Amino acid sequence: MYDRYNRRVNYLRISVTDRCNLRCVYCMPAEGVVQLSHTDILSFDEILEVVHVAVDMGVDKIRITGGEPLVRKGIVHLVKMIAEIDGVKDLAMTSNASFLSKYARDLKDAGLHRINVSLDTMNPEKYAEITRGGDINAVFAGLKAAEKVGLNPIKINCVISNSSDEPDARMVRDFANKNGYQVRFIHMMDLETGYFQPVEGGEGGNCASCNRLRLTSNGLIKPCLFSTRGYSVRELGPQEAIEMALKHKPKRGGLNPEGSFYSIGG
Ligand code: 5AD
Ligand code: SF4
Repeated sequence: MYDRYNRRVNYLRISVTDRCNLRCVYCMPAEGVVQLSHTDILSFDEILEVVHVAVDMGVDKIRITGGEPLVRKGIVHLVKMIAEIDGVKDLAMTSNASFLSKYARDLKDAGLHRINVSLDTMNPEKYAEITRGGDINAVFAGLKAAEKVGLNPIKINCVISNSSDEPDARMVRDFANKNGYQVRFIHMMDLETGYFQPVEGGEGGNCASCNRLRLTSNGLIKPCLFSTRGYSVRELGPQEAIEMALKHKPKRGGLNPEGSFYSIGG
């Protein structure tokens, strides 16, 4: 499918939960957030229906995000059911990897192709600070497990404050290079001011070539991370929600002051 600026849209990012075991400073407030109730969150059947319709409309690339996708109960089963849909050519996940060592094997067996892991520093104390309590050794164990089961390629998402030359970023790059992981540097974004930049080493943040739609965990199809628009698959049905989002996909990102990364999936 094509939007009104003739961009081919073939990529759907699915946030399967707004919950997360971590509280990264740039993503969540320290005190946490009001969580969506279980009835607001799309069921697996509802998500699968959206994927079926999206694939029929031309989506062939899916990413599962959160919050933290691995805290959603039954996530491996959902991955398996999405992987079995004809027409899904690329199935990836973005995870903080806290629980990845436990799930890597099952995710691979379920049909997940590859994984992106968030890691902003190599320093354990600093990691705990940024994530407000995360254990960097769990991330390392998760990465090893992903490597071992053949989730490939493994990409590291590294959020940077100023430049990919800052010390933390350089250390993450060295670590990635040594281990055969790809690294992408994401400039810290701000939904309130509309600040974002192209991802270094990735595709995000490049409006002219943006090929994405997003599905939030409560069932809104969003045309853009930096837009307040969202179309409910429950109210409109998946096809019309996708059509509306496509029609209203902005030429470039604007502001989304009421939005949040943990609910839209970064
Ligand atoms: N700026 C840039 N990236 C962010 N993420 C979350 N919040 C922000 C932000 N404010 C990223 C995380 C993770 C992905 C899910 O979203 O680093 O890699
Ligand atoms: Fe959780 Fe990812 Fe947000 Fe960190 S950035 S709090 S890991 S959802």
